Amino acid sequence: MDFIKKLDINGLIPEIPIIQGGMAVGVSLDGLASAVANEGGIGIIGTAGIGLVENISSGSVRRDNLEGLKNVIRRAKEKTKGIIGVNIMVALSDYSEMVKTAIKENVDLIISGAGLPLSLPSFLGETSKTKLVPIVSSLKSAQIIFKKWMKSYGYIPDAFIVEGPQAGGHLGYREENLEDENYSLETTVPQVVKFSEEIFRQYGKKVPVIAAGGIDSREKAQKMFMMGASGIQVGTPFIATKECDADIKFKQTVINASEEDIKIIKSPVGLPGRAVKNKFLEEVERGIQKPFRCAYQCIKTCKVTNAPYCIAQALLNAAKGNMEKGFAFTGSNGYKIKEITDVKTVIKTIIG
Ligand SMILES: Cc1cc2nc3c(=O)[nH]c(=O)nc-3n(C[C@H](O)[C@H](O)[C@H](O)COP(=O)(O)O)c2cc1C
Repeated sequence: MDFIKKLDINGLIPEIPIIQGGMAVGVSLDGLASAVANEGGIGIIGTAGIGLVENISSGSVRRDNLEGLKNVIRRAKEKTKGIIGVNIMVALSDYSEMVKTAIKENVDLIISGAGLPLSLPSFLGETSKTKLVPIVSSLKSAQIIFKKWMKSYGYIPDAFIVEGPQAGGHLGYREENLEDENYSLETTVPQVVKFSEEIFRQYGKKVPVIAAGGIDSREKAQKMFMMGASGIQVGTPFIATKECDADIKFKQTVINASEEDIKIIKSPVGLPGRAVKNKFLEEVERGIQKPFRCAYQCIKTCKVTNAPYCIAQALLNAAKGNMEKGFAFTGSNGYKIKEITDVKTVIKTIIG
């Protein structure tokens, strides 16, 4: 389209500048990621809880995750010659092993947020071609990451994803700032674009800025490109596609949601999250405990002893269609989705 630009992530150039946002647990696996890659976008595998999703039980949950990650990357690559990456949250307690495995499997890129991925370049080998893309929620976090990567590794990020407060899943903002203009995508994207231009002037490397959170229409995509973004990351609109890896009941939950059903929750991992309100979440809010056994502390920041439920288990249950024992994360625009379509249609709606 006339308004879109070429997205060039240090030599990784998709036909269309759309990254499908990684969605754990079990929402974006090889099915969705390869479908997006086959349409010319960048497909991203959500990696949290991937051993559980793959139903591997070797006796070590950490080993299961690495095995699951390897299997899903390999399956995705069998289904597409396009660009495949992974989303690995910094908050995962097996973060470094997951990153090493993804690099060993030659993924095209690693996207990393939910914390500052300060050590990410340390895992690259001499010959690794994997690109490294941090997710940031402010100019300050982009600057901190840039400074640390330059100082410790002489490495400049290959792109920045700015994820704004309208996104789905865990959010990198305090709850009270979610509706504050100073924290909006429209405020932060131009700031990070300016920072990226400074990097180019000083170091000669182009660091594209990718906008994420609530981009579900041509108008919104166009606005981001006009503000200097070179790409967009889209999550929620891909949930209601036939290629999405979650159960139909999960997709239907998002389709059936009204605007009032989409709420901010306090996640046991210590961050706010955006989700579709349901009986499970209402009970949790009323103080009802959902007993669980923690197999291993999958998220570093999870307050296991005080947690009213296990978020990994709840998200896994939901992705498998057991909505009574879990809930669906969604972006703020989830309620606008009215039917199941396919990846091609979603892409066409946004940049067609
Ligand atoms: C169901 C769901 C699961 C998500 N899981 C992750 C995740 O594991 N890691 C992450 O960095 N972002 C996650 N996100 C955020 C998305 O990758 C994406 O950046 C964001 O949702 C973009 O906003 P949008 O959904 O309004 O398009 C998730 C979002 C949703 C809706």
